[in-house]
Amino acid sequence: MRTALPDRGPFALRARILTPLASGGTRYEADGRLVVDARGVITHVGPWSDGSDDGPDDRGADPRHDVIDLRPLILMPGMVDLHVHLPQLPNAGVGAGLDVLTWLERYTFPLEHAFDRATAERLAPQAYRAFAAAGTTTALIYGAVYEASLDAAFRAAEAHGIRAVIGKVMMDRDVYDDSVPPERQLEANLRQSADLCARWHGRDDGRLRYAFTPRFAVSCSADLLRESAALARAAGAYWQTHLSESRPELAEVAHLFPEALDYLDVYDRAGGLVPRTILAHAIHLSAREVARLADSGAAVAHCPASNLFLASGAMPLTRYREAGIRVGLGSDVSGGPELSIFATMRAGAFVQSARRVCEHDEATQALGPLEWLRLGTYEGARALGQEDRIGSLEAGKEADLIAVDPRLVAPVPGEDSHDPAEVMSRLAFRPHPDMVRAAWVRGRRLEGPIGVT
Ligand code: GUN
Ligand code: ZN
Repeated sequence: MRTALPDRGPFALRARILTPLASGGTRYEADGRLVVDARGVITHVGPWSDGSDDGPDDRGADPRHDVIDLRPLILMPGMVDLHVHLPQLPNAGVGAGLDVLTWLERYTFPLEHAFDRATAERLAPQAYRAFAAAGTTTALIYGAVYEASLDAAFRAAEAHGIRAVIGKVMMDRDVYDDSVPPERQLEANLRQSADLCARWHGRDDGRLRYAFTPRFAVSCSADLLRESAALARAAGAYWQTHLSESRPELAEVAHLFPEALDYLDVYDRAGGLVPRTILAHAIHLSAREVARLADSGAAVAHCPASNLFLASGAMPLTRYREAGIRVGLGSDVSGGPELSIFATMRAGAFVQSARRVCEHDEATQALGPLEWLRLGTYEGARALGQEDRIGSLEAGKEADLIAVDPRLVAPVPGEDSHDPAEVMSRLAFRPHPDMVRAAWVRGRRLEGPIGVT
């Protein structure tokens, strides 16, 4: 048996396995076998002892002779980060407790203003390595406003191997980009975004995709919202924006769009509420908005670490799930202070506790650790409409997976346990920066995690 980590398929791994299942529930193998073929597709997941011959295809090595033993590491599906801002990574951890509108003006817009092509070329490769080190193999990303910086971000993602949906931030109100005159902002935003989409959407058999990304209603005219949604629909691309994050923002949106019924209605009137839409935050919604959101099929990126960091509010996760809204998890760096979706799960659990205790929301149910795992993986994939490809470790899916060391939780090693809920609970509540030892997308190993020794 070999111990060096495989760089690409075909390979077979012997390890513990923990994954949500598409049909519901969780699979745990204390001593498991996972086989990946030369295309990077999982061909087999099961107990080691079943001695399956269902190995890599005939272009690859026989799994019985080419097995990498990673025990006691645990193989899990890679995490899906449904909401993160690439240019903001250097600011992570700064600005706690500020209202989001103040925080944007003070920290975020100056940082994004400087995110030109050269900055993107420097930062994006580091960022993707950091995502992989945190266990994230798929990310839905906001860039800055400059087209050339988005090309650089896509090129770096193409080279690194991460699965990414990326979009140029569109703004035609209070814009920090002074290189384009105000009267040309609308047209320039639409044209540049359409060009980026034409160049990148669907690249590498759908590993890279495009998201039209109007920042939020405060920064966008009704025309920009409507035209960007039309472009996204026409291209089969995503549409992403922020919704109902902070109370002062709600008041500003009501002032700017007096004809709208509420915040969600601004996006509804723009034609933005479709299943390929992902709305970040969605904290302060009325009953009408919840019902309409569920009916529309648009998905929500729940960003609990950000919502605590910027004191935005406590999203009623249980209500949305019961309404049938697809919800995944977002780090929202740098609204959120950490890239780790494990840490985001912890924040999510704290937010749900706060709802029960502080807001006396009896309807809020505490999710168990395995449900948080599902939210950070399979539900994120489902929010992107990619659950047929990724989000769980099952035969036929693309091999987007991570190897996690269950011993490496802070501050001292945990008891070894084969209770999957207990193991997952430690990883979510005591994540260690080095616990993700390896990450693969489509069977190709990503740079970032520290590896095995
Ligand atoms: N609302 C509009 N832009 C942003 C942003 O960059 N971060 C967060 N958290 N909220 C926003
Ligand atoms: Zn955000």
